[in-house]
Amino acid sequence: METIKIGILGLGTVGSGVIRILRDHAEKISNITGRRLEVKTVVVHNLKKKRSVDLTGINLTDNADDVLCDDEIQMVVEVMGTVNTAKEYIERALKAGKHVITANKDLIATHGPELISLAKEHGCDLCYEASVAGGIPILRTIVNSFAADRIIEVRGIVNGTTNYIMTQMNKNGASYEDALESAQELGFAEADPTNDVDGIDAAYKMIILTQFAFGKDVTMDQVKVKGIRGIQKADIAEAKRLGYVIKLLGIAKLVNGHIDVSVGPVLVPQTQPLAAIQNENNAVVVTGSAVGETMFYGPGAGELPTANSVLSDITSVTKNIVMGTTGFSFNDYTNELELADDSE
Ligand code: HSE
Repeated sequence: METIKIGILGLGTVGSGVIRILRDHAEKISNITGRRLEVKTVVVHNLKKKRSVDLTGINLTDNADDVLCDDEIQMVVEVMGTVNTAKEYIERALKAGKHVITANKDLIATHGPELISLAKEHGCDLCYEASVAGGIPILRTIVNSFAADRIIEVRGIVNGTTNYIMTQMNKNGASYEDALESAQELGFAEADPTNDVDGIDAAYKMIILTQFAFGKDVTMDQVKVKGIRGIQKADIAEAKRLGYVIKLLGIAKLVNGHIDVSVGPVLVPQTQPLAAIQNENNAVVVTGSAVGETMFYGPGAGELPTANSVLSDITSVTKNIVMGTTGFSFNDYTNELELADDSE
């Protein structure tokens, strides 16, 4: 059986999970793809750091050229998490004809369209299932299962940290400050929680979901973003009295022929499924004109759930290599909508 060699940029939580799943599920992956997948080289920042994952047979290097300039490596997995360096490496990989898989939502939300063009120019796949809602296979589901439907709205809980905080406030009566501290202690929220609590992380994910659901590129300045800072115990109590919980939701919908994208705290009726999504979990409700309302639920982060989404990209790209259909990937907007012309 032929082998496909993979280079990984970054060995944090997700990178380690990718190596684990590739090892543990190697036989199944070979059976479904017809190729043996081998991680040849992993690029890390700190060569001396102790690693929890077995790296037997894998080159560990701090020089990205060892992946980007290695002609044997056909596929590059970027799980570094930064934006500028990751962009430079992804561009170099695509220009060298390597297929790229990334979990980097900030990068895809801000530079997705130009990277997609570059991938196409070089006949490469660029996939990023793990960039939205961690372990929920939502992007590929929208492309495949909604290909023939017309999506009217995508709404959901796409940030686990804020959902954890809101759960503590809605369910346990915690204050915002105490709930945030608890999220930080459990490792959900960063020391600087700005991106999560101010809705920026969720906005990046909604930008990507909007590309997939409606085939439209929106930029951050077109998204109305409001976070959860400032929500008081009294707000929660009043919402509860009226039969609601407060959740941070991302919403992308058709309004008068235009796409409206927003992130903010929303009163969700206690009887609605989204109200029941607890702790750091995510859920995305996709409404199609044919199928009606569907909901996809699961872990929004974590080593193996996020790595599993990366693996779904790896197997999909491998199948494309085998079939000779690379250059097409789920970045082709199968759901592109005709929208009303502003000048009319
Ligand atoms: N900070 C993100 C969250 C991590 O809390 O959802 C996953 O993207």
